[in-house]
Amino acid sequence: MVLGTGGTIAGTAASASDHTGYTAGQLGVQHLLDAVPGLNDTLHGAALVCEQVAQLDSKDMDHATWQKLAQRCTHWLAQPDVGGIVITHGTDTLEETAWFLQQVLHTTKPVVLTCAMRPATALAPDGPQNLLDAMAVVLDPMARGVRVVCAGRIHRARDVQKVHPYRLDAFSSGEAGPRGWIEQGRVRWADPGSWPVAHVHARQVLTQPTADWPWVALLHNHAGADARQVHALVAAGVQGLVVAGTGNGTVHQSLLTALSEAQTQGVAVRLVTRCAEGQIVGQAAALQTAPLGLNAYKARVSLMLDLIVA
Ligand code: SIN
Repeated sequence: MVLGTGGTIAGTAASASDHTGYTAGQLGVQHLLDAVPGLNDTLHGAALVCEQVAQLDSKDMDHATWQKLAQRCTHWLAQPDVGGIVITHGTDTLEETAWFLQQVLHTTKPVVLTCAMRPATALAPDGPQNLLDAMAVVLDPMARGVRVVCAGRIHRARDVQKVHPYRLDAFSSGEAGPRGWIEQGRVRWADPGSWPVAHVHARQVLTQPTADWPWVALLHNHAGADARQVHALVAAGVQGLVVAGTGNGTVHQSLLTALSEAQTQGVAVRLVTRCAEGQIVGQAAALQTAPLGLNAYKARVSLMLDLIVA
């Protein structure tokens, strides 16, 4: 199965040399597949079916689309003759969607998200190669769980992060490194053994109206950080706050006081580091550290899922 959601991979520009002034999410997923040379060779006789789940620029990704995507994945993964799913997605929030899906899909079949940094109309688009690589990963017998494929590398949902706004190889797994590589259509795994674990109450997430999902917001610590943003969010009814602390999870004194008060009022607060690599070591600040060394965006997803079932 190939599920389309939009993104630059489905984007079009007025000129083939334009890599930035394009509109994302314009071409249907069947159109994208038709533009991949050599796809039949990669498929080795496997059938390919596609479905357009959404058509958006992923900066506009929302919880309703996440739920629909997870429902369609759940449906297709339950079919015995479906071996796996490729999802075409914009790069901007891809890491959040990947982490969300890993938390809510109970499957050992592979679900591979892929993308492009150049629109489909570019002189040398990267989307067709990424799609071909994603297909090779889904068809690999060692593939399982949610993975991200971009620029010849395979990433875990937990580790992957967009680290560059423009270059083709825009994703990194930081210190963890990629889970594997696609070389001339063949997959080489760095560590074939690690199975992802889904969120324990994931099924509830697929059925609860997204309008009822808890509001979890993200704050950053920085020089001159101001407690008024916490006060405003709490007054507006926020239910969870993820705070990207400086360094080893340090938080400006005025922000920390406001966050402690918010906790007392029932707001769930989780701390991460705003550093691009590494994770908080030991007990930082008087706030609970988010699990697994997640980045701020994925910690927001996890806290929201925790609060849905709390
Ligand atoms: C998007 O995230 O949908 C647009 C940007 C991209 O795919 O690179």
